[in-house]
Amino acid sequence: MLGLFSYNDTFNPMKKIDSDITKAATLQAKFYTSENVFKDTLENIFAKNWQFITDDSKLKENRSAFPFQFLGNLLPEPLVLVNNEGHINCFSNVCTHRGNLLINEPCTIKKNITCGYHGRQFDICGKFKFMPKTEGMQNFPTAQDDLAEIAVAKWKQFIFASLAPNFEFKELIKEVEERVGWMPIETFKYRENLSKEYFITANWALYCDNYLEGFHIPFIHEDLNAVLDFNSYDVEIFKYANLQLGIASDKDICFDLPKNSKDYGKKIAAYYFWVFPNLMLNFYPWGLSVNIITPISVNQTKIQFKSYVWDESKLNSGAGADLHKVELEDEKVVQQVQKGVVSRFYEYGRFSPSMEKGVHHFHTLISRFLDVQTKK
Ligand code: FES
Ligand SMILES: [Fe+2]
Repeated sequence: MLGLFSYNDTFNPMKKIDSDITKAATLQAKFYTSENVFKDTLENIFAKNWQFITDDSKLKENRSAFPFQFLGNLLPEPLVLVNNEGHINCFSNVCTHRGNLLINEPCTIKKNITCGYHGRQFDICGKFKFMPKTEGMQNFPTAQDDLAEIAVAKWKQFIFASLAPNFEFKELIKEVEERVGWMPIETFKYRENLSKEYFITANWALYCDNYLEGFHIPFIHEDLNAVLDFNSYDVEIFKYANLQLGIASDKDICFDLPKNSKDYGKKIAAYYFWVFPNLMLNFYPWGLSVNIITPISVNQTKIQFKSYVWDESKLNSGAGADLHKVELEDEKVVQQVQKGVVSRFYEYGRFSPSMEKGVHHFHTLISRFLDVQTKK
């Protein structure tokens, strides 16, 4: 065991995460507080995984384009999604001449993508087409003059992208599709007035840790606890995702499950899917709450709640009734934990084998992705 003051800069969380939860310790506190570890996290976890970008509402039309920055200002990569006859592609949004941004607002591409600086043109597939005043230029154009193409994937109406994916998107979403793919998710309607953004003073992973265990529900969420059957709490672990099933207590609202559902016969109040590293897909009888947990700095995090409504009449009932109240209760404790993990007297903790399997899974994946870096 490390001594109380033996933090050192050659951080290797891998040492700490035993695959056996009964022996494992949690991530070192330093993971949540060190600027250097945070930078490693951006490159080795966020750049190598899939990020939720948007739904397809702004990309329905043929030749529509949607510019965005990958992970805000932290991995400031200007990219653009383009609908090419129903197929969504993702390109670098940077002109291959001298680096101007090509598309600044969502728009429809008329003929070519034309750079506003010196008129370089690219076709809808990102291929260089034309540039004025290139007469006499040798060895031009080459593949270097085309726009770089970025990995993109679509699941239902949702679009994901990755700068350097370590695995295929379908590995990420497979179990979600198998379990809740029967719901008419594509018909769920986005509701701006039910969607929210929150900012917290805590590391992004502390927010995920808290989400990944129902252990705290009776302590922190009195109202939520009243509609869930805490004793039936369980977690299913997949490769890059996991699922917490919210079981309704006696009379509370639950899903009307089809016979071919694996859960048929159970009183499911909510499916809480966590998708590595920072996405939550919470399905309630009223619809879907997508939560995106975006780091801003080592101890600042943005949380977006996007609501997609299936059945309006169920909006104010059951486990998904007052998400705002539950969120504030979670934020309060997560921000307290951020103050706790800077303590020189706190180094790491242990997992409850029955209640913290989800957190253990998350820490194991973090360790694995950071360890790739330390071995290079
Ligand atoms: S930077 Fe785009 S044409 Fe010059
Ligand atoms: Fe909570």
